[in-house]
Amino acid sequence: MKIAILGYGTVGSGVFNVIRENNAIIEKRVGAPIEIKYVLDLRDFPGDPVEPYLVHDFRTIIEDPEIDIIVEVMGGLKPAYDFVKEALLSGRSVCTSNKELVAAYGAELISIAKERSINFLFEASVGGGIPVIRQLMRSVTADEVEEVSGILNGTTNYMMTRMREDGISFDEALADAQANGFAERNPAADIEGYDACRKIAILTSLAYGQQVDYQDIYTEGITKISEADVAYAKAMKRGIKLIARSYQKDGKVYAMVSPMMIRSKNPLYPVNGVFNAIMVRGNMLGEIMFYGMGAGKLPTASAVVSDVIDAAKHRFVNIPILWSTEKMTLGAKEDMQGRFFVRVPASEADKARELFAIHKTPEIAEKPEEFAFVTKEMSEKAFADACAKLSVIASIRYE
Ligand code: HSE
Repeated sequence: MKIAILGYGTVGSGVFNVIRENNAIIEKRVGAPIEIKYVLDLRDFPGDPVEPYLVHDFRTIIEDPEIDIIVEVMGGLKPAYDFVKEALLSGRSVCTSNKELVAAYGAELISIAKERSINFLFEASVGGGIPVIRQLMRSVTADEVEEVSGILNGTTNYMMTRMREDGISFDEALADAQANGFAERNPAADIEGYDACRKIAILTSLAYGQQVDYQDIYTEGITKISEADVAYAKAMKRGIKLIARSYQKDGKVYAMVSPMMIRSKNPLYPVNGVFNAIMVRGNMLGEIMFYGMGAGKLPTASAVVSDVIDAAKHRFVNIPILWSTEKMTLGAKEDMQGRFFVRVPASEADKARELFAIHKTPEIAEKPEEFAFVTKEMSEKAFADACAKLSVIASIRYE
Protein backbone atom coordinates (compact mmCIF):
# COMPACT_ATOMS: atom_id res chain seq x y z
CA MET A 1 0.00 0.00 0.00
CA LYS A 2 1.42 3.36 -0.97
CA ILE A 3 0.29 6.53 0.70
CA ALA A 4 0.78 10.26 0.29
CA ILE A 5 0.69 12.80 3.10
CA LEU A 6 -0.64 16.27 2.32
CA GLY A 7 1.08 18.71 4.69
CA TYR A 8 4.30 18.44 6.69
CA GLY A 9 3.33 20.59 9.66
CA THR A 10 2.94 19.40 13.25
CA VAL A 11 0.54 16.55 12.47
CA GLY A 12 2.01 15.70 9.06
CA SER A 13 5.52 15.26 10.45
CA GLY A 14 3.98 13.20 13.27
CA VAL A 15 2.27 10.88 10.77
CA PHE A 16 5.59 10.55 8.91
CA ASN A 17 7.34 9.58 12.17
CA VAL A 18 4.65 7.16 13.38
CA ILE A 19 4.54 5.27 10.09
CA ARG A 20 8.32 4.98 9.89
CA GLU A 21 8.89 4.15 13.54
CA ASN A 22 6.03 1.66 13.95
CA ASN A 23 6.31 0.20 10.47
CA ALA A 24 6.75 -3.41 11.56
CA ILE A 25 3.72 -3.47 13.88
CA ILE A 26 1.61 -1.57 11.33
CA GLU A 27 2.54 -4.10 8.63
CA LYS A 28 1.53 -6.95 10.95
CA ARG A 29 -1.84 -5.34 11.66
CA VAL A 30 -2.60 -4.52 8.04
CA GLY A 31 -1.15 -7.71 6.60
CA ALA A 32 0.90 -5.70 4.07
CA PRO A 33 3.51 -2.97 4.29
CA ILE A 34 2.43 0.68 4.30
CA GLU A 35 4.88 2.80 2.36
CA ILE A 36 5.03 6.59 2.25
CA LYS A 37 5.60 7.60 -1.37
CA TYR A 38 5.04 11.36 -1.24
CA VAL A 39 4.74 14.21 1.23
CA LEU A 40 3.22 17.38 -0.18
CA ASP A 41 4.28 20.74 1.20
CA LEU A 42 5.06 24.11 -0.32
CA ARG A 43 8.17 24.41 1.82
CA ASP A 44 11.54 22.68 1.52
CA PHE A 45 13.04 20.92 4.52
CA PRO A 46 16.78 20.70 3.85
CA GLY A 47 18.43 17.93 5.82
CA ASP A 48 15.09 16.54 7.10
CA PRO A 49 14.36 12.82 6.52
CA VAL A 50 11.26 13.92 4.55
CA GLU A 51 13.41 15.38 1.74
CA PRO A 52 13.36 12.38 -0.64
CA TYR A 53 9.56 12.20 -0.41
CA LEU A 54 8.78 15.91 -0.77
CA VAL A 55 6.72 17.13 -3.70
CA HIS A 56 5.26 20.58 -4.22
CA ASP A 57 2.48 19.75 -6.68
CA PHE A 58 -0.68 17.80 -5.79
CA ARG A 59 -0.92 16.63 -9.44
CA THR A 60 2.15 14.41 -8.90
CA ILE A 61 0.18 12.54 -6.24
CA ILE A 62 -3.26 12.39 -7.79
CA GLU A 63 -1.89 11.27 -11.17
CA ASP A 64 0.17 8.44 -9.69
CA PRO A 65 -1.88 5.22 -9.94
CA GLU A 66 0.27 3.61 -7.23
CA ILE A 67 -1.20 5.83 -4.50
CA ASP A 68 -3.94 4.00 -2.58
CA ILE A 69 -4.51 6.23 0.44
CA ILE A 70 -4.16 9.98 0.91
CA VAL A 71 -3.63 11.54 4.34
CA GLU A 72 -4.80 15.16 4.54
CA VAL A 73 -3.24 17.03 7.44
CA MET A 74 -2.91 20.50 5.94
CA GLY A 75 -5.80 22.00 7.89
CA GLY A 76 -8.15 24.73 6.64
CA LEU A 77 -10.68 24.44 3.84
CA LYS A 78 -8.62 25.67 0.93
CA PRO A 79 -7.17 23.79 -0.83
CA ALA A 80 -7.87 20.82 1.47
CA TYR A 81 -11.50 20.42 0.35
CA ASP A 82 -10.65 20.36 -3.38
CA PHE A 83 -7.76 17.94 -2.85
CA VAL A 84 -9.78 15.57 -0.66
CA LYS A 85 -12.78 15.57 -2.96
CA GLU A 86 -10.64 14.89 -6.01
CA ALA A 87 -8.82 12.12 -4.14
CA LEU A 88 -12.10 10.43 -3.19
CA LEU A 89 -13.56 10.84 -6.67
CA SER A 90 -10.43 9.18 -8.06
CA GLY A 91 -11.03 6.15 -5.80
CA ARG A 92 -8.46 6.86 -3.06
CA SER A 93 -9.46 6.55 0.58
CA VAL A 94 -8.72 9.68 2.61
CA CYS A 95 -7.77 9.99 6.29
CA THR A 96 -7.80 13.45 7.80
CA SER A 97 -7.34 15.32 11.07
CA ASN A 98 -8.97 18.44 9.62
CA LYS A 99 -11.97 19.31 11.81
CA GLU A 100 -12.80 22.41 9.75
CA LEU A 101 -13.11 20.22 6.68
CA VAL A 102 -15.08 17.48 8.44
CA ALA A 103 -17.49 19.89 10.15
CA ALA A 104 -18.18 21.75 6.90
CA TYR A 105 -18.14 18.95 4.30
CA GLY A 106 -18.16 15.67 6.28
CA ALA A 107 -21.57 14.51 5.07
CA GLU A 108 -20.74 15.12 1.39
CA LEU A 109 -17.31 13.47 1.58
CA ILE A 110 -18.71 10.46 3.45
CA SER A 111 -21.33 9.99 0.73
CA ILE A 112 -18.72 10.16 -2.08
CA ALA A 113 -16.64 7.53 -0.26
CA LYS A 114 -19.71 5.33 0.15
CA GLU A 115 -20.63 5.54 -3.56
CA ARG A 116 -17.12 4.45 -4.49
CA SER A 117 -16.76 1.73 -1.84
CA ILE A 118 -13.78 3.46 -0.28
CA ASN A 119 -13.37 5.40 2.98
CA PHE A 120 -13.27 8.91 4.32
CA LEU A 121 -12.02 8.62 7.90
CA PHE A 122 -11.45 11.38 10.44
CA GLU A 123 -10.68 9.92 13.87
CA ALA A 124 -8.10 12.63 14.64
CA SER A 125 -10.53 15.47 13.96
CA VAL A 126 -11.99 15.22 17.48
CA GLY A 127 -10.14 14.58 20.73
CA GLY A 128 -6.62 14.30 19.24
CA GLY A 129 -5.40 10.81 20.09
CA ILE A 130 -8.63 9.65 21.76
CA PRO A 131 -10.44 7.01 19.70
CA VAL A 132 -13.88 8.55 20.26
CA ILE A 133 -15.28 8.67 16.72
CA ARG A 134 -14.65 5.01 16.02
CA GLN A 135 -16.34 4.11 19.31
CA LEU A 136 -19.30 6.36 18.68
CA MET A 137 -19.82 4.89 15.19
CA ARG A 138 -19.08 1.26 15.85
CA SER A 139 -19.64 0.63 19.54
CA VAL A 140 -22.40 2.91 20.81
CA THR A 141 -24.81 1.52 18.25
CA ALA A 142 -27.56 0.00 20.41
CA ASP A 143 -28.45 3.27 22.10
CA GLU A 144 -30.29 6.47 21.58
CA VAL A 145 -27.62 9.06 22.41
CA GLU A 146 -28.98 11.43 25.03
CA GLU A 147 -25.90 13.58 25.56
CA VAL A 148 -22.36 14.16 24.34
CA SER A 149 -20.31 16.60 26.36
CA GLY A 150 -16.83 17.31 27.44
CA ILE A 151 -13.57 19.13 27.08
CA LEU A 152 -12.76 19.14 23.38
CA ASN A 153 -9.99 21.70 23.10
CA GLY A 154 -6.56 20.87 24.46
CA THR A 155 -5.09 24.37 24.05
CA THR A 156 -7.65 26.15 26.21
CA ASN A 157 -7.65 23.39 28.82
CA TYR A 158 -3.86 23.56 28.95
CA MET A 159 -3.96 27.36 29.23
CA MET A 160 -6.56 27.39 32.01
CA THR A 161 -4.68 24.71 33.94
CA ARG A 162 -1.39 26.63 33.72
CA MET A 163 -3.08 29.91 34.65
CA ARG A 164 -4.76 28.34 37.65
CA GLU A 165 -1.91 26.15 38.88
CA ASP A 166 1.18 28.14 37.91
CA GLY A 167 -0.27 31.64 37.99
CA ILE A 168 1.03 32.50 34.51
CA SER A 169 -0.74 35.07 32.31
CA PHE A 170 -3.17 34.35 29.48
CA ASP A 171 -0.59 35.40 26.85
CA GLU A 172 2.20 33.33 28.40
CA ALA A 173 -0.08 30.30 28.59
CA LEU A 174 -1.07 30.72 24.94
CA ALA A 175 2.55 31.10 23.81
CA ASP A 176 3.38 27.92 25.70
CA ALA A 177 0.50 26.01 24.06
CA GLN A 178 1.73 27.23 20.67
CA ALA A 179 5.31 26.17 21.44
CA ASN A 180 4.02 22.71 22.35
CA GLY A 181 2.22 22.38 19.00
CA PHE A 182 -1.27 22.28 20.55
CA ALA A 183 -2.68 25.54 19.21
CA GLU A 184 -4.25 26.21 15.83
CA ARG A 185 -2.42 28.40 13.30
CA ASN A 186 -4.90 31.14 14.18
CA PRO A 187 -5.24 30.78 17.97
CA ALA A 188 -8.63 32.54 17.88
CA ALA A 189 -9.95 29.15 16.77
CA ASP A 190 -8.96 27.77 20.18
CA ILE A 191 -9.53 30.67 22.57
CA GLU A 192 -12.81 31.82 21.02
CA GLY A 193 -14.18 28.27 21.16
CA TYR A 194 -14.54 27.77 17.38
CA ASP A 195 -12.42 24.60 17.42
CA ALA A 196 -14.49 23.03 20.21
CA CYS A 197 -17.63 24.14 18.34
CA ARG A 198 -16.60 22.29 15.17
CA LYS A 199 -15.76 19.20 17.21
CA ILE A 200 -19.11 19.09 19.03
CA ALA A 201 -20.83 19.67 15.65
CA ILE A 202 -19.00 16.59 14.30
CA LEU A 203 -19.86 14.43 17.33
CA THR A 204 -23.49 15.58 17.32
CA SER A 205 -23.81 14.86 13.58
CA LEU A 206 -22.46 11.35 14.21
CA ALA A 207 -24.65 10.80 17.27
CA TYR A 208 -27.86 11.69 15.41
CA GLY A 209 -26.88 10.85 11.82
CA GLN A 210 -27.77 14.27 10.45
CA GLN A 211 -25.84 17.39 9.47
CA VAL A 212 -25.39 19.78 12.39
CA ASP A 213 -24.07 23.10 11.09
CA TYR A 214 -21.44 24.42 13.48
CA GLN A 215 -22.56 27.97 12.68
CA ASP A 216 -25.85 27.18 14.47
CA ILE A 217 -24.13 26.37 17.77
CA TYR A 218 -23.90 29.19 20.30
CA THR A 219 -20.19 29.50 21.12
CA GLU A 220 -18.30 31.41 23.78
CA GLY A 221 -14.56 31.05 24.32
CA ILE A 222 -12.30 31.69 27.31
CA THR A 223 -11.18 35.23 26.49
CA LYS A 224 -13.51 36.85 29.00
CA ILE A 225 -12.45 34.62 31.91
CA SER A 226 -10.48 36.78 34.33
CA GLU A 227 -8.15 36.05 37.23
CA ALA A 228 -10.97 37.19 39.54
CA ASP A 229 -13.31 34.56 38.06
CA VAL A 230 -10.66 31.90 38.66
CA ALA A 231 -10.26 33.11 42.26
CA TYR A 232 -14.02 32.90 42.82
CA ALA A 233 -14.06 29.40 41.35
CA LYS A 234 -11.22 28.31 43.61
CA ALA A 235 -12.97 29.78 46.66
CA MET A 236 -16.07 27.80 45.72
CA LYS A 237 -13.98 24.61 45.22
CA ARG A 238 -14.92 24.57 41.58
CA GLY A 239 -13.07 24.69 38.31
CA ILE A 240 -13.74 26.64 35.11
CA LYS A 241 -13.64 24.48 32.00
CA LEU A 242 -14.53 25.15 28.38
CA ILE A 243 -17.39 22.71 27.92
CA ALA A 244 -18.82 21.63 24.58
CA ARG A 245 -22.16 19.94 24.99
CA SER A 246 -25.10 18.63 23.02
CA TYR A 247 -28.13 16.82 24.38
CA GLN A 248 -31.63 15.70 23.48
CA LYS A 249 -34.62 17.05 25.33
CA ASP A 250 -38.27 16.68 24.41
CA GLY A 251 -37.39 15.51 20.92
CA LYS A 252 -35.03 18.42 20.20
CA VAL A 253 -31.24 18.53 20.13
CA TYR A 254 -29.53 21.46 21.84
CA ALA A 255 -25.85 22.36 21.63
CA MET A 256 -23.54 24.95 23.13
CA VAL A 257 -19.87 25.72 23.76
CA SER A 258 -19.07 27.90 26.76
CA PRO A 259 -16.96 28.11 29.89
CA MET A 260 -18.63 26.44 32.84
CA MET A 261 -17.94 26.41 36.57
CA ILE A 262 -18.02 22.73 37.41
CA ARG A 263 -18.00 21.07 40.80
CA SER A 264 -15.02 19.09 42.04
CA LYS A 265 -17.01 15.83 41.89
CA ASN A 266 -17.58 16.22 38.16
CA PRO A 267 -15.37 13.68 36.31
CA LEU A 268 -14.21 16.54 34.06
CA TYR A 269 -12.79 18.47 37.04
CA PRO A 270 -9.47 16.58 37.17
CA VAL A 271 -9.06 16.70 33.39
CA ASN A 272 -6.13 19.06 33.17
CA GLY A 273 -3.45 20.23 30.77
CA VAL A 274 -3.79 19.21 27.15
CA PHE A 275 -6.05 16.30 28.05
CA ASN A 276 -9.56 16.05 26.64
CA ALA A 277 -12.46 14.01 27.98
CA ILE A 278 -15.74 13.20 26.30
CA MET A 279 -18.77 11.82 28.05
CA VAL A 280 -21.41 10.00 26.02
CA ARG A 281 -24.73 9.13 27.63
CA GLY A 282 -26.89 6.50 25.97
CA ASN A 283 -30.42 5.63 26.99
CA MET A 284 -29.42 2.02 27.75
CA LEU A 285 -25.70 2.34 28.30
CA GLY A 286 -25.73 5.17 30.80
CA GLU A 287 -22.57 7.28 30.85
CA ILE A 288 -19.20 6.37 29.36
CA MET A 289 -16.13 8.57 29.23
CA PHE A 290 -13.19 8.79 26.86
CA TYR A 291 -10.01 10.42 28.13
CA GLY A 292 -6.64 11.15 26.60
CA MET A 293 -4.31 13.60 24.91
CA GLY A 294 -6.52 16.00 23.00
CA ALA A 295 -3.81 17.65 20.90
CA GLY A 296 -0.14 17.37 20.04
CA LYS A 297 1.94 15.91 17.27
CA LEU A 298 2.22 12.21 18.12
CA PRO A 299 -1.19 11.54 19.75
CA THR A 300 -2.96 13.19 16.81
CA ALA A 301 -0.71 11.40 14.32
CA SER A 302 -1.42 8.10 16.07
CA ALA A 303 -5.16 8.62 15.49
CA VAL A 304 -4.56 9.49 11.82
CA VAL A 305 -2.44 6.37 11.34
CA SER A 306 -5.10 4.22 13.00
CA ASP A 307 -7.39 5.44 10.21
CA VAL A 308 -4.74 4.63 7.60
CA ILE A 309 -4.65 1.08 8.99
CA ASP A 310 -8.46 0.87 8.84
CA ALA A 311 -8.48 2.22 5.29
CA ALA A 312 -5.78 -0.25 4.26
CA LYS A 313 -7.71 -3.16 5.78
CA HIS A 314 -10.89 -2.04 4.01
CA ARG A 315 -9.40 -1.16 0.63
CA PHE A 316 -12.61 -1.48 -1.42
CA VAL A 317 -15.07 -1.92 1.43
CA ASN A 318 -16.85 1.12 2.77
CA ILE A 319 -17.02 1.34 6.57
CA PRO A 320 -20.54 2.70 7.07
CA ILE A 321 -20.84 6.10 8.75
CA LEU A 322 -24.33 7.38 9.45
CA TRP A 323 -24.21 11.12 8.71
CA SER A 324 -26.63 12.35 6.08
CA THR A 325 -26.58 15.75 4.39
CA GLU A 326 -30.07 16.42 5.82
CA LYS A 327 -29.74 19.43 8.10
CA MET A 328 -30.72 19.16 11.74
CA THR A 329 -32.50 22.16 13.23
CA LEU A 330 -31.18 22.67 16.73
CA GLY A 331 -33.34 23.77 19.64
CA ALA A 332 -33.12 27.51 20.37
CA LYS A 333 -30.35 28.66 22.69
CA GLU A 334 -32.87 30.91 24.50
CA ASP A 335 -34.78 27.81 25.67
CA MET A 336 -31.73 26.09 27.16
CA GLN A 337 -31.88 25.85 30.93
CA GLY A 338 -29.12 26.23 33.46
CA ARG A 339 -27.70 28.04 36.43
CA PHE A 340 -25.30 30.97 36.30
CA PHE A 341 -22.56 32.46 38.46
CA VAL A 342 -22.84 36.25 38.28
CA ARG A 343 -20.80 39.25 39.48
CA VAL A 344 -22.35 42.71 39.70
CA PRO A 345 -21.20 45.89 41.50
CA ALA A 346 -22.10 45.84 45.22
CA SER A 347 -24.36 48.82 44.61
CA GLU A 348 -26.65 46.55 42.54
CA ALA A 349 -26.91 43.80 45.14
CA ASP A 350 -30.52 44.53 46.08
CA LYS A 351 -31.63 44.86 42.48
CA ALA A 352 -29.92 41.55 41.62
CA ARG A 353 -31.52 39.83 44.64
CA GLU A 354 -34.92 40.98 43.48
CA LEU A 355 -34.42 40.18 39.78
CA PHE A 356 -33.09 36.70 40.44
CA ALA A 357 -35.21 35.99 43.53
CA ILE A 358 -32.14 35.35 45.68
CA HIS A 359 -32.98 34.99 49.33
CA LYS A 360 -29.65 33.80 50.65
CA THR A 361 -26.30 35.29 49.70
CA PRO A 362 -23.82 32.47 49.04
CA GLU A 363 -20.42 32.82 50.70
CA ILE A 364 -18.44 33.88 47.71
CA ALA A 365 -17.51 37.39 48.80
CA GLU A 366 -14.10 37.44 47.13
CA LYS A 367 -14.28 41.18 46.40
CA PRO A 368 -16.07 43.56 48.77
CA GLU A 369 -16.90 46.00 45.96
CA GLU A 370 -18.87 43.25 44.22
CA PHE A 371 -21.92 41.13 44.81
CA ALA A 372 -21.37 37.62 43.47
CA PHE A 373 -24.11 35.02 43.42
CA VAL A 374 -25.44 31.90 41.76
CA THR A 375 -28.85 31.85 40.13
CA LYS A 376 -31.48 29.17 40.31
CA GLU A 377 -32.15 27.05 37.23
CA MET A 378 -33.57 29.35 34.56
CA SER A 379 -33.72 29.73 30.78
CA GLU A 380 -31.00 31.52 28.83
CA LYS A 381 -33.64 34.02 27.75
CA ALA A 382 -34.80 34.81 31.27
CA PHE A 383 -31.16 35.15 32.33
CA ALA A 384 -30.32 37.53 29.47
CA ASP A 385 -33.44 39.61 30.18
CA ALA A 386 -32.52 40.01 33.86
CA CYS A 387 -28.87 40.78 33.05
CA ALA A 388 -29.94 43.56 30.68
CA LYS A 389 -31.17 45.43 33.77
CA LEU A 390 -27.82 45.17 35.59
CA SER A 391 -24.20 46.19 35.04
CA VAL A 392 -22.93 42.60 34.98
CA ILE A 393 -19.16 42.39 35.51
CA ALA A 394 -18.99 38.72 34.57
CA SER A 395 -21.20 35.67 34.27
CA ILE A 396 -20.29 32.04 33.83
CA ARG A 397 -22.56 29.05 33.36
CA TYR A 398 -22.67 27.02 36.54
CA GLU A 399 -23.13 23.33 36.99
N1 HSE B 1 -5.91 23.19 18.66
C1 HSE B 1 -6.54 21.95 18.90
C2 HSE B 1 -6.66 21.75 20.41
C3 HSE B 1 -5.73 20.85 18.28
O1 HSE B 1 -5.96 22.45 21.14
O2 HSE B 1 -7.45 20.94 20.86
C4 HSE B 1 -6.38 19.49 18.32
O3 HSE B 1 -7.56 19.46 17.56
